Amino acid sequence: MRPAPKVVQVPDAASMAREAARRFVHETTNTLARAEVFRVALSGGSTPKAMYRLLASPEFRDTVDWSRVQVFFSDERFVPPDSEESNYHSAQEGLLSSVPIRRESVHPVMTVGVTPEDSAARYEASIRSAFGDADSMVPAFDLIFLGMGPDGHTASLFPETDALKITDRIVAPNFVPRLDSWRITFTYPLLNAAKQVMFLVQGPDKAQRVREVLAEGADLPAAGVRPHNGRLVWLLDQSASSEYDLAASRVSDVQRTS
Ligand code: 6PG
Repeated sequence: MRPAPKVVQVPDAASMAREAARRFVHETTNTLARAEVFRVALSGGSTPKAMYRLLASPEFRDTVDWSRVQVFFSDERFVPPDSEESNYHSAQEGLLSSVPIRRESVHPVMTVGVTPEDSAARYEASIRSAFGDADSMVPAFDLIFLGMGPDGHTASLFPETDALKITDRIVAPNFVPRLDSWRITFTYPLLNAAKQVMFLVQGPDKAQRVREVLAEGADLPAAGVRPHNGRLVWLLDQSASSEYDLAASRVSDVQRTS
């Protein structure tokens, strides 16, 4: 039986960043108390950027043993790594260049000189190599961060795109007609094998989809993320949860932070 989602409501974007950074440190510390490595996948878009800045600050930076952290990306735009559009670039600029993480512990998606198919195959191989898992296994990330778009997409699993249907790969190329562009994305098998998935969703433009996913079980890409055994946390600011009645919610646990 899949555990029900835990919904945490925070007042605003600043408190979202702080709660997410606090949880990042908490999960890293807990994992490294019993394991050698903490493997995390960062989400893309703009929401994580404030968390990155906090994690890079003296308040948080020195509370993480970055020498034992491995960083991946739950999806990537098919753009050069130095593009402002690149999720790797955002994380590198906002966080990774400011913390003592080894270069070989950061795993960007290759997006130059390869086809989208080659890129996805290479990324799958790099994930499997980092986990040291047999090809038959689906690697279980300690923590995967995800965002959600106003259309209910998550990672680069957009409505009515091919990657939604993939069940036999952990990373896939995905052409997104609405954007007229290729993306490289974790697939549901990899997302749902995670020990924990944490959505960071803020802004009134997400409120309707939050209600549809959490209260109505709508058939949206973000609703397909239900880890088999892992924890699922939705971190929502008040504006993104404005259409979702936390009190009447069906989720397992609702928490409001000040
Ligand atoms: C991407 C993302 C995507 C993102 C959502 C939310 O590469 O764009 O991975 O899934 O998380 O679109 O983006 P915002 O945080 O910018 O609203």
